[in-house]
Amino acid sequence: MTDVEETTATLPLARKCPFSPPPEYQRLREESPISRVGLPSGQTAWALTRLEDIREMLSSPHFSSDRQNPAFPLMVARQIRRDDKKPFRPSLIGMDPPEHGQARREVVGEFTVKRMKALQPRIQQIVDEHIDAILAGPKPVDLVKALSLPVPSLVICEQLGVPYSDHEFFQACSSKLLSREVSAEERMEAFEKLEAYLDELVTKKEANATEDDLLGRQILKQRESGKEDHDDLVGLAFLLLIAGHETTANMISLGTVTLLENPEELAKIKADPGKTLPAIEELLRVFTIAETATSRFATADVEIGGTLIRAGEGVVGLSNAGNHDPDGFENPDDFDIERGARHHVAFGFGAHQCLGQNLARMELQIVFDTLFSRIPGIKVAVPVDELPFKHDSSIYGLHELPVTW
Ligand code: HEM
Repeated sequence: MTDVEETTATLPLARKCPFSPPPEYQRLREESPISRVGLPSGQTAWALTRLEDIREMLSSPHFSSDRQNPAFPLMVARQIRRDDKKPFRPSLIGMDPPEHGQARREVVGEFTVKRMKALQPRIQQIVDEHIDAILAGPKPVDLVKALSLPVPSLVICEQLGVPYSDHEFFQACSSKLLSREVSAEERMEAFEKLEAYLDELVTKKEANATEDDLLGRQILKQRESGKEDHDDLVGLAFLLLIAGHETTANMISLGTVTLLENPEELAKIKADPGKTLPAIEELLRVFTIAETATSRFATADVEIGGTLIRAGEGVVGLSNAGNHDPDGFENPDDFDIERGARHHVAFGFGAHQCLGQNLARMELQIVFDTLFSRIPGIKVAVPVDELPFKHDSSIYGLHELPVTW
């Protein structure tokens, strides 16, 4: 590809309304559903905007998730390591078969529905304690700090065996890593700091591994099979710590404000808690907060939706565009908690589909059911158009959500 190649758009495209995808997605889907786009990294890639094309790409064996490969389409400038350490070995999300399947099998048992059910009472306790503190504290309160961030952070810390007392450190690293505004150097610094922290944590655990937490169990499992791999565990801890809190936190904030803005839909949930899970599915679809996580590059010449994608070309599966494709969802721009659409791609699709989705659903369900029943008069404390939505991050969400009651 040459530098002067013509593109139809440059990603990321801007949302005009905080509750809807960028309007340009519709134009692209109608006029040029598989088109060449420019990326902030300076690369050019294919953008997919139709649900079926995204699902086809994500389930094809001819696309790679190797984020270290120069062909991988990036939404930020590529990070270059400043030290002379060996390159970071990515966990799951950056792996391809057969290594990906093996690595996923090692850890999938930690995220089964049964495992999540066992966590339910503790998650409920965490949510209750935070809502007690909100009710006992001053009004208005920033829900992001008081509930959205601490709940999933505490849950993933306890699950992994990471001390929650370090939350300010890892949340700051994580927000820099996901920000589109910080420089590549700053992002790399955050990356190296978090990596060094987890390196030390895994080393400590290796000295005294127990069955009490996920990292301890993985260490014991590796020992039993004679395949001890320190770097592998650091990579896994890194991925799970970030993916485990940042995503769900943003969905808690976005879900709360959306339900408050749609009192008829909220009333349905309050009247029938059986409707909370379908509402969560709809919120996941409507926001699709990790929409460019579903990027890949082609490892062979392959046709998707009638377009030839050549080996080495990057593809961004714009899952938020796919989740608003009228061929997949009737009246896709409506927020309808009774839509019953579980075929959305907010958790991705295919081999890399979100490992933590059962956990995310359970956390969201407990938070919404408890929040709206214990603080029935909760309302957003500022006009919604003044809320700081995260237009500057790879994961969409809210920086702050002042609420009162
Ligand atoms: C609402 C919350 C969440 C959303 C929207 C979300 C979204 C996603 C998406 C779109 C992918 C696919 C990436 C790809 O195709 O390359 C993914 C993968 C992943 N997610 Fe999540 N996620 C959420 C919560 C979580 C939680 C709570 C955890 C962990 C506790 C988690 C762990 C992971 C992991 C480990 C992967 C990689 C799986 C693999 O490559 O095999 N996620 N997530």
